[in-house]
Amino acid sequence: MFETLKSRPADSILALVQMYKEDPRQTKIDLGVGVYKDATGLTPIMRAIKSAEHQLWEEQDTKVYTGLAGDPAFADAMIKLVLGEAVARETVAAVATPGGTGAVRQAFELIQMARPEARVFVSNPTWPNHVSILNYLGIEVVPYRYFDNETRGVDFDGMIEDIGQAKAGDVVLLHGCCHNPTGANLNLTDWQSVVDVLLETGAVPMIDIAYQGFGDGLEEDARATRLVASSVPECLIAASCSKNFGIYRERTGLLMAVSQDADARKLNQDTLAFLNRQNYSFPPDHGARLVTMILNDDALRADWMAELEEVRSSMLELRSQLASELQRLSGSDRFGFLAQHRGMFSRLGATSEKVEEMRSKHGIYMVSDSRMNIAGLNAETVPILAKAIIDSGI
Ligand code: LMR
Repeated sequence: MFETLKSRPADSILALVQMYKEDPRQTKIDLGVGVYKDATGLTPIMRAIKSAEHQLWEEQDTKVYTGLAGDPAFADAMIKLVLGEAVARETVAAVATPGGTGAVRQAFELIQMARPEARVFVSNPTWPNHVSILNYLGIEVVPYRYFDNETRGVDFDGMIEDIGQAKAGDVVLLHGCCHNPTGANLNLTDWQSVVDVLLETGAVPMIDIAYQGFGDGLEEDARATRLVASSVPECLIAASCSKNFGIYRERTGLLMAVSQDADARKLNQDTLAFLNRQNYSFPPDHGARLVTMILNDDALRADWMAELEEVRSSMLELRSQLASELQRLSGSDRFGFLAQHRGMFSRLGATSEKVEEMRSKHGIYMVSDSRMNIAGLNAETVPILAKAIIDSGI
């Protein structure tokens, strides 16, 4: 039977990881996959995670299954982290999932179960795996304008016009903060306009929040998600702990379905648990447990927040270094957007040919759409990248 399988297109981000590994040049620079790296190029285990792991090793006395929805304490802690006091706890159905991707996948399956004809509106561009999973599930994808290649900011008028085409029963996928892949984000006034469109059209928002704490701060990065969740009758939220807790391989995420309709809530919770059972039965627990321990312990939480803040400010510092080096070399402000963008990524706005040239000539690896992982830089490589950008005529 296997002879009928067709080869699948390689994921653009993961293919780059492999290419980088195979490049023998000592001077190569990895700005590809969205993984935080410190100035030495290491992706560290956060201090609070190490402490929690140590404590868990001492105290945990069973590895028996958790519930189908995962440990309810994890859901409680994460709902608080993402939603704060924006909605009442009982309005939220939630299940632990294997990573943010697991939450995204389950959300799409839930949409398909509830409304097989639903279309999902996605920003152009979005994280390529959003589109890949939607295509795989056979859900219709409708791109909406998002990135303005001239200003390297958000094409807000285009976005509003395009999401205004959504109908009740459609879904609008939004990035809660730190837009991936562009780094260009809406301000809170813009978000209010998005909410107005959602209310007018009746489309259901789905928020993917994978970088809370990487943009303007832990609370600030959650504001848009909270605004949306508290304004609309129903929404879906896929949250990831991979980046802000640095536990990429532990696969830790949470899918939330918020509904103001009291009758829908139990059904939502049961349906999410059913989907977990069909896909992998019980969700992974190790990462979720560490996150719960950290969020529920004052000292661990304070240490985690302090380290997350160090991570965030180091990326901001790299952004401003790169923007000012480019300003010096180009004698213009046309790269100022790099300091305005937030999160791990910035889309440079270069053609794929230029990206390829940077790779072959300078050993600089960025995704072919010119997405750069800012955390892949350090004080020494910032000037090298800036010079390569100018030399390539970008
Ligand atoms: C990324 O966008 O690079 C990360 O979210 C990693 C991934 O799985 O693609």
